[in-house]
Amino acid sequence: MKIAVVGKGGREAAICWKLAASDLSTEIVAYPGNPGIANGKVRCAGFKTTDDLIEKIVSEQFDYVVIGQEKYLDEGIIDKLISLKVPCIGPVQAASKLESSKSFCKEIFVEADVPTAKYSHFLSESALSEYTHQEIKKRHLVLKWDYLAEGKGVFICTDNDSLQEALLQLKALGDAQGKFSVLVEECLEGKEFSAFCLVDGNSIKYFSSACDYKRLNSKRGSPNTGGMGTYSPADIINSNEEDLVLGYANRIVKAMGAKGIEYNGVLFLGCMQVGEITYLLEVNTRFGDPETQSILPRLNTDLALICQKMSERKGKLKDVDLEWSKDYAVHVVKADPNYPTGKKQSVIIETQSNPDVLVFYAGVEMKDNRLYTNGGRIFGLTAVSATKASARDLVYKNLKAASFDNEIFREDIGC
Ligand code: AMP
Ligand code: GLY
Repeated sequence: MKIAVVGKGGREAAICWKLAASDLSTEIVAYPGNPGIANGKVRCAGFKTTDDLIEKIVSEQFDYVVIGQEKYLDEGIIDKLISLKVPCIGPVQAASKLESSKSFCKEIFVEADVPTAKYSHFLSESALSEYTHQEIKKRHLVLKWDYLAEGKGVFICTDNDSLQEALLQLKALGDAQGKFSVLVEECLEGKEFSAFCLVDGNSIKYFSSACDYKRLNSKRGSPNTGGMGTYSPADIINSNEEDLVLGYANRIVKAMGAKGIEYNGVLFLGCMQVGEITYLLEVNTRFGDPETQSILPRLNTDLALICQKMSERKGKLKDVDLEWSKDYAVHVVKADPNYPTGKKQSVIIETQSNPDVLVFYAGVEMKDNRLYTNGGRIFGLTAVSATKASARDLVYKNLKAASFDNEIFREDIGC
């Protein structure tokens, strides 16, 4: 099978690695990928615009296409690929609104009757400002930009100062996009985890879970990042996690169906456990980054086969039994010292061959035949072992498998 994977980060590196491990795959092309992904069956190819990407995909005649990054789903790449009869995995544009519009997602949560934080929706800055000015005197608030913001559209406001800062940033987002739409949610407190399902028509399968460390470090008030590490499976709730998550996913897919929108692809449920109740904070419509880097190493079933069944969009996922290793995986991200600001350094990445860890590259570039850092999250290392503690020991003992000057990483992943 010849397979295309769209995206360029550590998540896509892990997807390509797992697809390449299958006997069914012959060639995998990452669009655009990154120079750390290319290896054996996997190569990278560039493109200019999404239309150019689609043209390239059509001319290469892939058996199917896996979309990693949400931006392409929001642009409607799946609708275009379906109309061109290219088998592909991911939701159509109308269904990808679950991630790209937080107000749409909340409406679906309410219709699906799943537990979620109480919220109000504002379409003008003045109405938002008036409401929050009063409310912040009584309680903490969460302000959310309605649209895709690459993790930069959520503001936890604990006092008037943080509220004013959030209002300024939301105004800037509104000015940049020419439209204003913001949700205000009650602020919940609890442990978060990410749970995944694969949806293929009426066939919905649980695809394990992970805990993501979103803050740069463990200090209070440390900045939010794309994720500094994960472990899988999440052990926040115990034996009933699979049933609970499948129940929520079924209700969401049904609520979408009632609006005439069929959901296909990955359903990523962002959960928070508050006492006995598992709340849904958000839904994403693709695999998590860096959750995928700790989930896929635990998957015993052939990913190329799973994806091939899903890409037909005929409910054939039901024919595949998903099997998981009983082991834990711990994934530690190494980032540029300036992360999460946009600034970056360019230094050589030193590697040592090491059978105990997997390295998934993200922010890298090739210069003079050597891999250099290229800003943001540079790569992550994953180790798999019988317990979370032993997986953690293994990954931290082997951090030299890939390293660079001034690297930053969290020392508490899996604690
Ligand atoms: P979201 O993009 O909606 O998942 O929000 C990003 C992050 O903001 C979540 O992972 C939480 O850490 C935090 N967050 C979102 N909604 C709430 C809420 N209602 N209460 C507390 N924290 C929240
Ligand atoms: N790790 C969170 C995300 O992928 O959105």
